Amino acid sequence: MRVAVAGCCHGELDKIYETLALAERRGPGRVDLLLCCGDFQAVRNEADLRCMAVPPKYRHMQTFYRYYSGEKKAPVLTIFIGGNHEASNHLQELPYGGWVAPNIYYLGLAGVVKYRGVRIGGISGIFKSHDYRKGHFECPPYNSSTIRSIYHVRNIEVYKLKQLKQPIDIFLSHDWPRSIYHYGNKKQLLKTKSFFRQEVENNTLGSPAASELLEHLKPTYWFSAHLHVKFAALMQHQAKDKEQTAKATKFLALDKCLPHRDFLQVLEIKHDPSAPDYLEYDIEWLTILSATDDLINVTGHLWNMPENNGLHARWDYSATEEAMKEVLEKLNHDLKVPCNFSITAACYDPSKPQTQMQLVHRLNPQTTEFCAQLGITDLNVRLQKAKEEHQFCGEYEEQDGVESNDSGEDRSEYNTDTSALSSINPDEIMLDEEEEDEDSIVSAHSDVNTPSVEPSDRASDFSTSFSDVRILPSSMMVSSDDTLGSPVVTEGKCDEAVESGDGEDLTKVPLKRLSDEHEPEQRKKIKRRNQAIYAAVDDDDDYAA
Ligand SMILES: [Fe+2]
Repeated sequence: MRVAVAGCCHGELDKIYETLALAERRGPGRVDLLLCCGDFQAVRNEADLRCMAVPPKYRHMQTFYRYYSGEKKAPVLTIFIGGNHEASNHLQELPYGGWVAPNIYYLGLAGVVKYRGVRIGGISGIFKSHDYRKGHFECPPYNSSTIRSIYHVRNIEVYKLKQLKQPIDIFLSHDWPRSIYHYGNKKQLLKTKSFFRQEVENNTLGSPAASELLEHLKPTYWFSAHLHVKFAALMQHQAKDKEQTAKATKFLALDKCLPHRDFLQVLEIKHDPSAPDYLEYDIEWLTILSATDDLINVTGHLWNMPENNGLHARWDYSATEEAMKEVLEKLNHDLKVPCNFSITAACYDPSKPQTQMQLVHRLNPQTTEFCAQLGITDLNVRLQKAKEEHQFCGEYEEQDGVESNDSGEDRSEYNTDTSALSSINPDEIMLDEEEEDEDSIVSAHSDVNTPSVEPSDRASDFSTSFSDVRILPSSMMVSSDDTLGSPVVTEGKCDEAVESGDGEDLTKVPLKRLSDEHEPEQRKKIKRRNQAIYAAVDDDDDYAA
């Protein structure tokens, strides 16, 4: 089947679907599935907008609300994960995944689904070492700290995914797995994004948690976004035993949705022609969710996952045949993801803006139904109970030094206005090639009264549980010529194509957002013009990371 993959969406759904339609007209035909690798921005209304960790000037309603209201319908089944710029209150309603609009499915904090027999997994958020070992304690209204920590990847999600034993075809993460840049054209990457050089040299760029998952899951494909550059790599895994064929993962990261950027790519992916033509739950994943239900943690205290160290009665939560049968019976042998989307929040009305719209911690009926059927806990019910028992929230707000306020809505208004606290989101990376260079950005920011020092995510900081045993290629180090002498990249084509096992080239046929067709000469001129149009975004690209 034909699968389109998109990088950071930033609420540009209309433009992504328009580009997809163009690709379908120009290319081999209809695309069956769209996968979006985060920063999706499923913003329904003004309250959602306040839950998005971006400076106020970037808080635009964009186009998602039209799909939520039913005014528009996604032309193709769309599956997405969360990034670091999301309507976090909306996604929080669906920790185990669910429909955010008809035909648009969120994979959850972590999740695995099947479409036409293709097994698609993913993890939402980005890695930050200081929040990694906390429970899911955040709930709206968020404060200046939780509005960011809410999208930081947690060890429990990685742990659950690591219980998977059956092969995964496609995996999605917003930030790149750490080290993946050593398996592709590093020279070209550093030519385009020279400010990654230090982190690439130190092997500190990207998520160690995603890297751990990549090593464990060894999916056929891994797609990412976040760094706003197209990059392909081929990672060869080590065979477990001599009789086994060594697996390989084809990695592809895409740019963000802007004109003339490589933000979309269509791939042919093998599917099972006899498999259903609708979205299905994955029985192994559901069984793991069911088994790990007791591990739900809604506190912000640091904790470790069960392991075979004599301290835990159980550490293996992988799905047995018997357990999978039981879960299947609970679902009456029907794995179809129900089309049970319903509008649960007020939808933005451009004619009646509501700046004071109340922000509530909502239970979503899709999650309620899913949890009831599977017999697991709704994370948000547990959070609400904990809140009633004063077990958290206040505790963390105090840590933040944010003044408490009896009005939840007012607190949210105050706390989510990050501009009042800082113009810098420590989770964002200055990325854009239009920036002068990283040093100038850093020195400019050093004048700003930053709220806190961001804990480093250097290798020494994170838990030793990251085994870091993957086989690294010989070219781990960045050689002196890695940023020099790369052949000129013609538009949309890298100088070195990464060939997959079946001869497929992951760097070919990039799809860029073009309003119409132009010859190469004309296209260059238009590119400059469009850069000017988008300068407001590009010149301060911290938002878009
Ligand atoms: Fe991002």
